[in-house]
Amino acid sequence: MYQIIGTWKMSLDGVREAAELLRAGGSAGDAVEHAIVRVEDNPDYSSVGYGGLPDKDGHVMTDCAFMDGCSLRAGAAMSVENVANPIRLARKLCGRDTNWLLAGRGAEQAAVAFGLQMKDMRTEASMRKWQAERASIPEKLTAYTGHDTVCVLAVDDAGRMVAGTSTSGLFLKEPGRVGDSPVIGSGFYCDARFGAAAATGLGEDIMRGCLSYEIVSLMRRGASPADACREALSFLSARKLELREDAGSISVIALNPQGETGAATTLEIFPFAAGGPQGTGLLAVGKDAPNLRKVTEEEMAEQP
Ligand code: GLY
Repeated sequence: MYQIIGTWKMSLDGVREAAELLRAGGSAGDAVEHAIVRVEDNPDYSSVGYGGLPDKDGHVMTDCAFMDGCSLRAGAAMSVENVANPIRLARKLCGRDTNWLLAGRGAEQAAVAFGLQMKDMRTEASMRKWQAERASIPEKLTAYTGHDTVCVLAVDDAGRMVAGTSTSGLFLKEPGRVGDSPVIGSGFYCDARFGAAAATGLGEDIMRGCLSYEIVSLMRRGASPADACREALSFLSARKLELREDAGSISVIALNPQGETGAATTLEIFPFAAGGPQGTGLLAVGKDAPNLRKVTEEEMAEQP
């Protein structure tokens, strides 16, 4: 049974359209690409794609990934500038035997060779914010509030399963800084036999727990997507507490081949979009409210 799930309220429109694609017999790969492109193209979302907030030097540097769960092949790129739709680059790289994870100049050259659209990803608004804040960069950068990486997982009626991620990373990050989103096993993982998972939040924390692979491993051992998300995240949070660190800002989503979804978060509230034969809508979990519940767009009006 087809199903699609995407992080944050910002993925709702794309997830809705992608669910229609899946309903009409489209592939999981096309659905994931479509849903993510919708977020990348929208300049109002300052943590992804066009209008993403720049690094310390004023460059919008993006990270992205695409993984095909049937072949266990992935494509990913990091520290990429001026590629209009990073997810398209990740998808093009997916399937290669080697050279499927590219960084910086090489990734940009690959995008040009693939004939992908190149574009200045800065907007007036993103540069205004950079101008206003670049003189007082906090020592400890924090994740965005209410949005971050767009992560989308989908399974189609043919049993194909795909995971995708796209982000411009932390605002005012150091040039060259890379988060979890293009890192296989941390920001994303997908095995069509057992399930897919992806993470959003502070990449430096997510990578310490290799969270996406951990969630898929738990599903492989029989956990539901919801239980796998909760167990993986509470284990990492508990380990951080032992180390006298707080749980940080992390949210995860998961999907299994039966189309069941799950999510968990360290935040008060983490909204995400899900679409399937029963329709498309927003759901949410909270750190003290771990069960998935339906929420309305109005309730989530404060969320970017
Ligand atoms: N999760 C996105 C990042 O840390 O860059």
